[in-house]
Amino acid sequence: MCAAHAVQQSSEHIPVLAEPVRRLAAAKPGEVWVDCTLGFGGHTADLLAAGARVYGVDRDPQARAATAARLAPYADRFSMLSGDFRHVAALLAAEGVEAVDGLLADLGVSSWQLDQAERGFSFQHAGPVDMRMDPAGPRTALDLLRTLPMGELADLLRRYGEEPFAGPIARAMKAWAEGPGPHSTTGLAAVVAGALPAKAQRTRHRHPATRAFQALRIAVNDELGALETLLATLPTLLRPGGRALLISFHSLEDRPIKQAFAAWTRPPEPPRRGLPAPDAAEPPFVALTRKPVIADEAEVATNPRARSAKLRAVMRRAA
Ligand SMILES: C[S@@+](CC[C@H](N)C(=O)[O-])C[C@H]1O[C@@H](n2cnc3c(N)ncnc32)[C@H](O)[C@@H]1O
Repeated sequence: MCAAHAVQQSSEHIPVLAEPVRRLAAAKPGEVWVDCTLGFGGHTADLLAAGARVYGVDRDPQARAATAARLAPYADRFSMLSGDFRHVAALLAAEGVEAVDGLLADLGVSSWQLDQAERGFSFQHAGPVDMRMDPAGPRTALDLLRTLPMGELADLLRRYGEEPFAGPIARAMKAWAEGPGPHSTTGLAAVVAGALPAKAQRTRHRHPATRAFQALRIAVNDELGALETLLATLPTLLRPGGRALLISFHSLEDRPIKQAFAAWTRPPEPPRRGLPAPDAAEPPFVALTRKPVIADEAEVATNPRARSAKLRAVMRRAA
């Protein structure tokens, strides 16, 4: 999630962790950056203001349309690319770009996407049970509920939602999805809440359907698969001295980022006796953040969704 506000407020849109992103990105005129999650273009606008050339990727046509006008003044240095960031290398190659000086990803969905009832991301606004970031995607959340076997649905709630009551919730959701309807997001949220034991309903700090909705959204959009592919691609895309900044919003996203960054910045093992020394004395990347950067109180006060944001950054060692 991010700090995107409603469309009409887009001109004053302040992205999540804007100040640390600017500082760690340290974008300069002449550099080439790719923003893998363009959204409302808040981070991209900052990179452009710093003088960089930016390619902005998003798989949501509505987000791209909303942002196009905003970034029009930078048309000479900004290109919008439509697609999934798992294909970022191919998307850039099609523009004649083989490597970049910086890559940014602010993962998940934007507040604006959450607030669009018809997109079906939110349990607070009644809409179709859709949840696709790309409306041309192969299956909606309702399709998933109808087609996944019960065991797999419960497993999905456990893995992607860390939902302790996955079994009863999966049973209730499936019965509801296969029933006559109507099928709306608020109806689904009520079904999830009703499947929780009474004590859990009373003691949960967040809405009872938060975990289940997160799990469905991650599955519908294969969010973790996209992140995994991005992490596999990233080292080959960055030029020496290039920076990568990734912002995650829950531990399922943060864990693979943390592990990948740790592997890239770990010094090579010292040579064992009798074995040849490793090729490189230095790891290929330098950590720019020892711990994840999080939002301060002031930012959380103005944008409660920034509360769970974690920013990690690395730099490819100069040759
Ligand atoms: C949190 S918002 C980014 C907000 C942006 N940083 C800003 O300042 O407005 C995430 C955006 O990334 C897009 N997105 C998420 N996963 C994607 C993926 N795998 N490929 C392409 N776009 C993706 C979403 O559609 C959404 O518009």
